[in-house]
Amino acid sequence: MNEETIIRKTADYIREKLSGEGSGHDWWHVYRVWKNAVHIAGEEDADLNVVQLAALLHDISDWKLNDGDCEAGPRLAREWLEKMKVDEALADHVCEIIKDISFKGAGVNTSMRTKEGMVVQDADRLDAIGAIGIARTFAYGGFKKREIHNPEIRPELHDTFEKYKNGTGPAINHFYEKLLLLKDLMNTATAKKIAEGRHLYMEQFLERFHKEWNGEY
Ligand code: ADP
Ligand code: NI
Repeated sequence: MNEETIIRKTADYIREKLSGEGSGHDWWHVYRVWKNAVHIAGEEDADLNVVQLAALLHDISDWKLNDGDCEAGPRLAREWLEKMKVDEALADHVCEIIKDISFKGAGVNTSMRTKEGMVVQDADRLDAIGAIGIARTFAYGGFKKREIHNPEIRPELHDTFEKYKNGTGPAINHFYEKLLLLKDLMNTATAKKIAEGRHLYMEQFLERFHKEWNGEY
């Protein structure tokens, strides 16, 4: 099979698997990450085949949605890539990206080893901020039956993945625990630039949210 066919089949497989998912990790999230990743890869001169496969497969099984198992995603991705008969070095690279991509707490290092990894991580993180990031955060909060906001529960900057993973705070806390930190964690110049406007939009949203919460008209 040629590269293009494998990418098309992979997109079909993931679309089928993640359609209708309700936590903000649905097919359309993957689709946006895929498109963001192709855009950034073009600007940063990264390998488009690796980038596209990793973007398409990155949420095949997220730890948040499978009892914290970080190995399930790379394992399922490898099974799929073996079925597509891609060579081992390519499968290794894609699975490494999927294993390392996730945010794991404010104080936890999640740096990527390769340029392709940096591109896909940035593409995923761009979809976590801005207007879409805001929408996904409340979708996830509802999915987990969390409150929108509770001023009695302070945000926490988690210094271990264990603490981040076990966090149960309201949706608004997630902005302070992760989303507002992403701008400065972008790997590529292309994503840093896109992140600026999205970051500002979240700050404005939060300012307005707290004003309304505090009874200001
Ligand atoms: P990553 O892409 O780094 O793995 P996640 O999959 O953890 O990111 O999160 C993707 C999106 O899901 C977040 O950007 C956010 O919108 C939502 N989300 C994840 N964890 C939480 C949480 N604890 N509270 C609210 N939203 C969350
Ligand atoms: Ni994702």
